[in-house]
Parts: sequence; structure tokens; C-alpha cells
Amino acid sequence: MPPHPLLDAGFIDALEPYLEEVGTVFHAFREQDSGCVSFGVAVGSERWFVKGATESEAAVSLRRAVKIHAAVQHSVIVPLQHAFDIAGGLALVYPWVDGVVLYHPTLSRHGGRAAPDSPMARFRRLPLPVVLQALDKILDAHLAVERAGLLAVDFYDGCMLYDFDAHSMVLCDLDEYRPGPFLLDAERLPGSRRFMAPEEFVKGSTIDVRTTVFVLGRALRLLLDAGDEEQGWRGSPSQLAVVGRATTRDPAHRYASVDALMQAWHAVSAAD
Ligand SMILES: Nc1ncnc2c1ncn2[C@@H]1O[C@H](COP(=O)(O)OP(=O)(O)OP(=O)(O)O)[C@@H](O)[C@H]1O
Ligand SMILES: [Mg+2]
Repeated sequence: MPPHPLLDAGFIDALEPYLEEVGTVFHAFREQDSGCVSFGVAVGSERWFVKGATESEAAVSLRRAVKIHAAVQHSVIVPLQHAFDIAGGLALVYPWVDGVVLYHPTLSRHGGRAAPDSPMARFRRLPLPVVLQALDKILDAHLAVERAGLLAVDFYDGCMLYDFDAHSMVLCDLDEYRPGPFLLDAERLPGSRRFMAPEEFVKGSTIDVRTTVFVLGRALRLLLDAGDEEQGWRGSPSQLAVVGRATTRDPAHRYASVDALMQAWHAVSAAD
């Protein structure tokens, strides 16, 4: 078999010209906050997502992603297929996943989740069982994350790739996930404030699995609402109580693990 132009790629000087040479670039993501530039590339009948970083901070997060994917694989987490060096950094190769992220901030545009035609608003209009199934997938993927000894960092609706035709939920961009627990040695962690736990903003605080529990509780809260103002809860009162405990300010009062959160969630969902 001849070497595959992406899966067997070694050092490449310039990513985009290379991708144009070996395939057809059908999409480019140039406007990301991360500083990475990513491409949808067709090679024959295959479609790939190639994410590249040419400056050091972005490359650090892609090197972190390589370790994350080595530690955890799950059907809901888009699988990393290959990584290769490029001038100044690194490129990661993933299968292309159909769908849209529920939220897509770019360098020039943030917000817009409330707009009726936004992916998030569309998701919030889906039938309840469909939403609950997608939430289960998110929880289940994070059970695997927990079992791998990893913590969710920078998890938000921008990581949730949803296919409105197939109703499938896939998670991408887990580049900031880290082994834990750890002490926060910066003023804050990267992430979306709407999802982040209070301790993620306190230098010196302990970031552990209860931080992940909080973030997942926020995902449940925000995805199971009819609107963007958290005024239209679609779940049951007992489901809301589980969310309340998951998102308690004091980590000591939250569920002690993703496993415990999931058990509580499934127990009330079955009872309702
Ligand atoms: N495997 C994939 N298949 C198809 N599209 C993808 C895939 N992974 C990510 N995307 C799309 O590419 C966009 C950018 O990817 P990603 O979020 O990994 O980049 P990023 O540079 O880390 O962006 P950000 O600064 O928002 O974190 C995502 O918002 C999503 O729309
Ligand atoms: Mg990112």
C-alpha cells in the first residue's frame, strides 16, 4: 500500500499548500480564538479534518490533545488518527464529522446563541427524548474521561458537534483537557464563563473531578432549556435538583465523581 498522504505524513513545511496538493480543501476555519487554523480536506472519497498550529501556544495545546486522545477513546469523542510536525508546530488529523457545533465563536464574532436560527436555538427546539439522548452521550463520554484520569477544561457548547439529520452528538476540541487533580497556577483556566466552575477563576485552587462535575451540570442546565436565559427548564424538578447539586458553588457539596452524577441523573430520569 502506498503511504497515505495524511495518515502517514511526516514533517511538512506548509500545511495548506500540502493539503491542496494531496486533496481538495473544502472548508477552512481561519478565525478561531485558539490561533489554530483547521481545514476540511477531501482525499479521494475520504473526508478529513486537519487542525494545524504554527505558533507555540497553539502548538502546546495540540500536543496536549495528542496525549488526551492516547489516554481516552470513546465513540462520542472524535478520534485522533495521526499527528505530524509542520514548520513551527504540529498538525492533527481527524475524520471529518458531519454536523455543526452548537456554538461557534470566532475572532470577530461571539454570542448569538439566542438567535432563532442558531444551532443552539435549533437544538433547544428538538423533542425532549432526543435532547436527553444527546445529554446522555455527553455524560457517558465524560465517564470515560474520568476513568482515564482526565479533567474537562474548556468544555463548552463549541465542543459539541451535532448532526441534525442523524441526531448524533460528537465531541471535538478537547485540547485543553488535563490529567488531574492539579493546582491552578494561573489567574484562570481557559473556557466559557457560562460553563466554568468558580474555582477555575481562583489561582491556587484545586481543580479536580468536582470541577468536571460542575461543567457537566452546566451543560445539562443550558442544553435542557428552551431558551438562552435559563428561564425555560424543560426537564423535571428532580432533574433540576441534580443539576443544582452538580453546580453548587462549594465543590465539597457537589457529586464526588462523574459516575455519581450520572447515577443520580439516570435515577431521577427513570423515576420521572
Ligand atoms: N472532526 C471534525 N469534523 C468536522 N468539523 C470539525 C471537526 N472538529 C472540529 N470541527 C469544526 O471546526 C471548528 C474548529 O475546530 P476546533 O474547535 O477544534 O478549533 P479551535 O481552533 O480549537 O477553535 P476554538 O478557538 O473555538 O477553540 C469547530 O468549531 C467545528 O465547527
Ligand atoms: Mg479550541
